Amino acid sequence: MAVANFSLTTPIYYVNAKPHLGHAYTTIIGDALARWHRLIGDDVHFLTGTDEHGLKIQQAADAAGMTPQQFADGIAPQFQQAWKKLNISNDDFIRTTEPRHYAGVAKLLQACYDAGDIELDTYTGLYCVACELYYTEEELVDGLCPIHKLPVESFEEENYFFRLSRFEGRLLDWYAGHPGAMTPEFRGNEALGLIRGGLRDFSVSRTSLAWGVPLPWDTKHVAYVWFDALTNYLSSVGYGTDDERFSEWWPVDYHLLGKDIVRQHCVYWPAMLMSAGIALPKGWGIGGWLLAGGEKMSKTSGNVIDPLDLVDDIGVDGFRYYVLAETPYGQDGDFTYEGLLNRYNSDLANNLGNLLSRVATVVAKKCDGIGPAPRADSPLATAAATAYESTSDGWLSLQPSRALDATWSLIRATNAYLEANEPWKTEPGAAVDAVMGDALEALRIVAVLASPAIPDTAQEVWGRIGLPGLVVGQRLPNAAAWGGYPGALAVTKGEPMFPRRQIPA
Ligand code: MSP
Repeated sequence: MAVANFSLTTPIYYVNAKPHLGHAYTTIIGDALARWHRLIGDDVHFLTGTDEHGLKIQQAADAAGMTPQQFADGIAPQFQQAWKKLNISNDDFIRTTEPRHYAGVAKLLQACYDAGDIELDTYTGLYCVACELYYTEEELVDGLCPIHKLPVESFEEENYFFRLSRFEGRLLDWYAGHPGAMTPEFRGNEALGLIRGGLRDFSVSRTSLAWGVPLPWDTKHVAYVWFDALTNYLSSVGYGTDDERFSEWWPVDYHLLGKDIVRQHCVYWPAMLMSAGIALPKGWGIGGWLLAGGEKMSKTSGNVIDPLDLVDDIGVDGFRYYVLAETPYGQDGDFTYEGLLNRYNSDLANNLGNLLSRVATVVAKKCDGIGPAPRADSPLATAAATAYESTSDGWLSLQPSRALDATWSLIRATNAYLEANEPWKTEPGAAVDAVMGDALEALRIVAVLASPAIPDTAQEVWGRIGLPGLVVGQRLPNAAAWGGYPGALAVTKGEPMFPRRQIPA
């Protein structure tokens, strides 16, 4: 089978705050998707990084009494460390202060300028620093930014403008020719609504600020932070520095983003690419917000939850599983600690943990600790085939919660199979061996299918049922074909994997 390239990105996170649960949310979804694609044999490029220019960072640095570079240098590693702790398998981490990124931004600016789509003009507008976006009077809610509920600032600047208004028809035509490019559909429709509502030119440069990438033809100006930031998706794969690499990895398969940055990703960005004559992304995944007490989690709202605290409490995989399984992709979810524990208890402790411990206990007692081989005509084989098909559909259609539910259907079927056969009540012999071989084979397939979501756990299950090597070394679809567990392997009982948690009153 030919190796296919699959690339995906998360937004690059502002370094004005340390990583919080809202950042972890998209990054974990991206990671699981990247891992699924590696399992199916794709050559994957998974990108994340940090957005380090702009007024917001300049102001945060000023407040801390540092230069913006010093400030960014302090926060960017915190993102890298957090992703390491969350087992994020990104292939690259781009910082917008890197030389390779400056080269890409300069090249894209110049390409749009040469195409005649960037022009000098004077602008007066109302600016929200938290969004790094201009608003019209009508867009404000009670005179405040509609997203951050903060006062906006009145700015007048001579700016270079990107002539977005010229792209309305071209964008609508492109999206009409690429149905399903934005997923889920209802979020894509919101983006189309923004385009149909009419597009205004936006300024792509600032003279009031020095912290950014200078415009190549007029170095008094630095690039507007969103023009700069979006370009990371190109500069990270060689645009401006390595043409061969760029042609290998562009266009990207999926940009993952939150619903608050749809305008920039689904309207500005494709227009910028069209102007420069660069192919458009193949897909956008638009996620909802993970709310805390009904509010978007953000530094500005002061309701930030540190994902690393939750990892210390519930484990990396407990946390990753919750993020992926709890909320259908695209919808808003409300984070509660009780919800986290409930998910953990029902799916990880009662279903997966219980299945593993039952199997290991019965194999120890009735099979001398040696796992028997499965039957070719096991009643569980159909459940396994269906679980694989639906898990695959779930990941490929960017619905992690459905993918996991499908994988868990095999866990539930295997627990039910054990309860129906009660091998713990049966004398050792062929009947027990047959049932336990089937259950071990189901666990092997579960380990493979669940590995994108809970990689450490999957590896632990793999090892405890006696299989050598790494789950990440397996390849689908072969690894999901019934009959792969060879039997005659030592099965280890080990500590309970997901001890039940008490829900605090
Ligand atoms: N720097 C820009 C993105 C530039 S991409 C070229 C930015 N950064 S951000 O750090 O403010 O937010 C990044 C992403 O995190 C956004 O997609 C945003 O939706 C997401 N989240 C921030 N808080 C969130 C939640 N509480 N829940 C889910 N995602 C949210 O915007």
